[in-house]
Amino acid sequence: MQSTSIEPDPSPGTRATATRARPVAVTGIQASGRTHLGNFLGMIRPALALAASHDACYFIADAHALTTLRDGAALRRHTREIAATWLALGLDPGRMTLYRQSDLPEVFQLCWILSCCTGKGLLNRAHAYKAAVAANRAASRPDDHGVNSGAFVYPVLMAADILLLAADVVPVGLDQKQHVEIAREVGASFNAMHGPVLPLPDPLIDRRVATIPGLDGRKMSKSYGNVLPIFAAPDELRALVGRMVTDSRPTEAPKDPERCNLFALYQHLAQPAAVTALRARYLQGGVAYREVKEELIGLLDATFGPAGVAYRALMADPAELERLLAAGAERARTRAAPVMDRVRAAVGLA
Ligand code: TRP
Repeated sequence: MQSTSIEPDPSPGTRATATRARPVAVTGIQASGRTHLGNFLGMIRPALALAASHDACYFIADAHALTTLRDGAALRRHTREIAATWLALGLDPGRMTLYRQSDLPEVFQLCWILSCCTGKGLLNRAHAYKAAVAANRAASRPDDHGVNSGAFVYPVLMAADILLLAADVVPVGLDQKQHVEIAREVGASFNAMHGPVLPLPDPLIDRRVATIPGLDGRKMSKSYGNVLPIFAAPDELRALVGRMVTDSRPTEAPKDPERCNLFALYQHLAQPAAVTALRARYLQGGVAYREVKEELIGLLDATFGPAGVAYRALMADPAELERLLAAGAERARTRAAPVMDRVRAAVGLA
């Protein structure tokens, strides 16, 4: 997958698309924290674009958040925030299915059944778990110190999300690629044990936006605390962009656009002609980083301003959000039912 455009992993899987009008795209966002520019560019924008050609089923992963979040009120708030974010950014609930993961009890049923088909060793190799073990070793603690079983089984719950809706593709950021590959392996081992019941999904990764730098130049990530929340208030946005790290070249010096964090964000938000023009000015010299920061603030405002208004309106109307989520859950459950029936029948639970 070296391509620069959205492309599925070419490896073939068990396909059930022949009987369906459009391939199914499934993805989720964990309900923890505010959505940032890296989430938007890396996953949300490509996922929304995919809805033109795919049957899009997108959800809020509230159960996954339980692995780290211990505050029910906060979880409920984050869930509404993610739902409002999807909708404000253009998810059309008439054509697409938006739902809350925990509204599908089938997800938990399937998660258990899949756990029984998943080698523990496969989960030992998951990046997030390995990182937790590595951090414990570095601090001379026992390997599994502070690791709850839910965090360990996290990839199986994700496999259940994906396989339950018979996804063909899973649009994700690069950080979730391994999780989708694990989902595929889990589905394959279920099929090896019980027959060809579950179609196997491919990750769909937009390589152009695989790594969006954060304020400090490292990958934009909540865990680094270097994010630009897309619906930040204007003052906060200005302060955050102001903090973005650049080198200390003076205005007149030629600059390398490919090594500039500001340019990296600019190129994903500006029109192509503007990107070409700014690139040329970087190479020539004469660009002040201060000026690019102003441009970036303007672009962020133009890109997210109107959606921010819609977002705040949705957040002010929890009843409407609940109504939309309930309708989405009903649709998703209708899709999940036949898959779950086949799974139960195959394993002998029905
Ligand atoms: N793990 C994903 C995240 O961190 C969220 C998620 C849960 C997901 N289930 C999924 C993504 C299924 C794609 C498909 O945001």
